[in-house]
Amino acid sequence: MTAISWRATVLTLFPEMFPGPLGVSLAGKALATGLWTLEARDIRASATDRHRSVDDTPAGGGPGMVLRADVLAAAIDAVASPEDRPRLLMSPRGRPLTQATVAELAAGPGPLIVCGRFEGVDQRVIGARGLEEVSIGDYVLSGGEIAAMALIDCCVRLLPGVMGKSSSGADESFSEGLLEYPQYTRPQMFEGAPIPELLLSGDHARVAAWRRAEAEALTRARRPDLWAAHAGQNRPKNPTDG
Ligand code: ADE
Repeated sequence: MTAISWRATVLTLFPEMFPGPLGVSLAGKALATGLWTLEARDIRASATDRHRSVDDTPAGGGPGMVLRADVLAAAIDAVASPEDRPRLLMSPRGRPLTQATVAELAAGPGPLIVCGRFEGVDQRVIGARGLEEVSIGDYVLSGGEIAAMALIDCCVRLLPGVMGKSSSGADESFSEGLLEYPQYTRPQMFEGAPIPELLLSGDHARVAAWRRAEAEALTRARRPDLWAAHAGQNRPKNPTDG
């Protein structure tokens, strides 16, 4: 294969955490066959003082430690030609990760991802190196590594050749702003509960309509935020509206 494969470069204080779960199952197989590459780089390798320090106390006081701007900038600058790649900083204050962002990242060359630790990262390096902060949810992890793994996993499964059946990515949760419909498989009867009869009818149009209705009902019940956005997008155009 001659094409340059999708590449994730991760800057972390714990490179030994990688590939971790990305080394098994779907992502791991794709990694082994060269459909993508992973480069975990140790931020500490860019420390310059005798103690190899990467963090310091927050200016203005307060608890914890802050990742130094000079050390992190040097670590970013040491990555070969990072200019044309998205530069992300995993952080709970970032823009929430969505399937749309994942699809965009998967379609590009692959991101450079900085994993935050301690109380945070010196604000100046975020601006100076154009880091875009990304959050995987409204909760606080002890560092950005697990968040980076989640982001990479989401991207890798969308890369060409990674998923067995190319259609299995199109039907799933969020691809149309809806949660996924319920699935069933054998046995036909489980603890007194049968598979909905319609799914065994062989009538593809009725199955599709049923799945659509289930996906809509589930989204409306569980995720009013997604439902409102979906309903807004699909509202018929009315010439009297603004
Ligand atoms: N680092 C700590 N918590 C995080 C979160 N929720 N998302 C991304 N990075 C994080």
